[in-house]
Amino acid sequence: MTAEVIHGLEGVPIAESGISFVDGKAGRLEYRGISIEDLAEHSTFEETAYLLLFGKLPTREEVDPFQDDLRTHRRLKYRILDLIKCLPETGHPMDALQAGIAAIGMFYPLRQKMDDVDRGLACIRLISKTPSVVAAFERLRKGDQQVSPRDDLTLAGNFLYMMTGKDPDPLKQRILDLCLILHADHTMNASTFAGRVVGSTLATPYSVTSSALGALSGPLHGGANEDVMALLDSIGSPQRAGAVIEEMIANKTKVPGFGHRVYKTMDPRAKILKKYAQQLSETSGTHHFETALVVEKVVQEHYQEKGIWPNVDFFSGIVYTELNIPRDCFTPVFAIARMAGWLAHWLEQVERNRIFRPTQKYVGPHDQPYIPIEKR
Ligand SMILES: CC(C)(COP(=O)(O)OP(=O)(O)OC[C@H]1O[C@@H](n2cnc3c(N)ncnc32)[C@H](O)[C@@H]1OP(=O)(O)O)[C@@H](O)C(=O)NCCC(=O)NCCS
Repeated sequence: MTAEVIHGLEGVPIAESGISFVDGKAGRLEYRGISIEDLAEHSTFEETAYLLLFGKLPTREEVDPFQDDLRTHRRLKYRILDLIKCLPETGHPMDALQAGIAAIGMFYPLRQKMDDVDRGLACIRLISKTPSVVAAFERLRKGDQQVSPRDDLTLAGNFLYMMTGKDPDPLKQRILDLCLILHADHTMNASTFAGRVVGSTLATPYSVTSSALGALSGPLHGGANEDVMALLDSIGSPQRAGAVIEEMIANKTKVPGFGHRVYKTMDPRAKILKKYAQQLSETSGTHHFETALVVEKVVQEHYQEKGIWPNVDFFSGIVYTELNIPRDCFTPVFAIARMAGWLAHWLEQVERNRIFRPTQKYVGPHDQPYIPIEKR
């Protein structure tokens, strides 16, 4: 038994996994061995979800029924909508999503011994209903009616439709689909690990994913893109960016959207998102992208040698803002994508399961006397 505590389990492999792979030096991310660049260019979120869950790209005969199933299960039961209506409108959408997913599980009890059909159906329900919960909370908290899902749209298009009640713009629909592909999995991070720990107790996938959602809600995991947008807003224009960032660097303040525990070069997802942030900004006329370019240049002049490059959050906030997604829904959109990855890890965990039961290094006292309360 090891006596050394590895804080944060840094560098400790906790599973053998065939789902995703990161090479931080080369800036490479693969899902099931396929590069993120190829998936971003050729795939759809639905097909990528199939790849993550089942380990291979689907044939036409496989993808059509999978997509049909994903469309069929978008609706929320009226009692789930009632539950969402009862949540405080000032609450965070991530907390609403976590509560919604946990509650949905109560409507679909699973047998102790799930077979492949039970598991597959639970995955479909969770991937389909997550966007519906996010959109319903967003509408209801503003006092608007929730919008029922449409089954003629892709998952990304239908999410944009449920958020606004308007037909989604085809370019925005495609770019959101791409964002979902880019965020669908990312090896053994905190929320995925949380989900695998809960999965190892043979809890239901609804518990697994609501636990993962809790982990993702913390500011050290999801959410740096909100800080990036706050920074770009506070800078206000490309002309001011240089001075503001030089001052941050002089004060040793971390610049949000830069640096990564694994990537020591540009995050491949940031490279892809940069292109789309530019495309969307050209039509909207906002200053965010131009300001971000100056921020990137100044940070790189100082920190490139240290391996500090833009991460996925640097450009995703700009893209989501251009898609009219409210800032506190950025992390829920990440969760819509990551649901596929969490569930793939759950399937992998239960396939070769052993309950997680780490150990600890006890550093407290021994043989202490019990002192009666009146003498303490
Ligand atoms: C992502 C992050 C937590 C990675 O952390 P990490 O691997 O533990 O790296 P550290 O925080 O120990 O940083 C290592 C060095 O780089 C510097 N650094 C890291 N990120 C930096 C940033 N965004 N801006 C300026 N300096 C940074 C640190 O100050 C530290 O410098 P030092 O060696 O002189 O002390 C960190 O880069 C960060 O906080 N980034 C900003 C928040 C963010 O964008 N998060 C989203 C991640 S996807």
